[in-house]
Amino acid sequence: MSILVLGGAGYIGSHAVYQLIDQGYEVVVIDNLQTGHRDALHPKAHFYEGDIRNREFMRSVFQKEKIKGIIHFAANSLVGESMVEPLKYYDNNVFGTQVVLEIMQEFGVKHIVFSSTAAVYGEQRVMPITESAETKPTNTYGETKLAMEKMMAWCEKGFGIHFVALRYFNVAGARGEGVIGEDHDPETHLIPVVLEAALGKRPAIIVFGEDYDTVDGTCVRDYIHVEDLIEAHILALKYLQNGGESNYFNLGSSQGFSVKEIIETAKAVTQLDIPVQMGERRAGDPSTLIASSDKAKQVLGWNPSRTSIEQIITDAWNWHKHHPNGYQK
Ligand code: UFG
Repeated sequence: MSILVLGGAGYIGSHAVYQLIDQGYEVVVIDNLQTGHRDALHPKAHFYEGDIRNREFMRSVFQKEKIKGIIHFAANSLVGESMVEPLKYYDNNVFGTQVVLEIMQEFGVKHIVFSSTAAVYGEQRVMPITESAETKPTNTYGETKLAMEKMMAWCEKGFGIHFVALRYFNVAGARGEGVIGEDHDPETHLIPVVLEAALGKRPAIIVFGEDYDTVDGTCVRDYIHVEDLIEAHILALKYLQNGGESNYFNLGSSQGFSVKEIIETAKAVTQLDIPVQMGERRAGDPSTLIASSDKAKQVLGWNPSRTSIEQIITDAWNWHKHHPNGYQK
């Protein structure tokens, strides 16, 4: 019996595949390679190239493989892009998940762990954010992830699946040995963008707004190491397999860092000068997002160990400096 990783050639999905295989799981990967990379695939995973929205393709994989659980990372995830291309997000994220759930019903697969996001919370006044906070997304991306969560909840009532929605805060870093890492085209996430500026691959890091109501006027985010994040996915899978009920968990490190603080830490880690330019606010950005992850610790027994921002940036830098062109040779 195998675990199916949807989006297993992407940044976060590939880290999941590596950890699952480390832990002795049989892994099947589906990825359309729209944003994923063939070189990010683990050689031991059974890989099927195709799109989760294609029912016939999905059916053919489920007919060949014995799938006992799913981890679903196959989605578009850029806040800025989602504000200008909203329907791309409804199609890939919401409709894609609908097809996954249809196939689960057809083949009697009961367990799914999936990537949700802090973006479901939108702008909140009380920090840190707990799972009971009201969900009120400020961007299409968050709205589609919330729709995915709700679809799962109705399917639980309808045909008895069990799901865990993991609401990620800002994921960064890379697997220690530097074999896989973050490589998006275009790259928009703060830490890799700052590191690209350090490498001289872009002229400067542009800070999106310095008039927010925060410590230094720049947005504050809660950064979590991708390896800690994946440990929570595997624990969530075990939780469902042990009869755990459907649930929602925040994954973050409960600490907030401003954009300027990230740039300063990156300068210290890389020992390089990083040119900075001030820019306008980006549409859809909430000013501050900090997680309470107590629930994941208590219920899943999650124990993140790579929580310092220096370590997260050091591991990201280890990947970037050895792969300045990402997976491109
Ligand atoms: N930022 C800049 N300049 C850049 C890139 C980012 O100033 O060139 C700022 C953004 O405005 C934001 C912060 O850095 O304030 C972090 O931005 P990211 O794009 O790295 O991440 P987001 O917070 O927008 O979104 C990320 C994920 C989402 C997830 C969200 C949850 O991309 O999937 O974290 O916090 F929902």
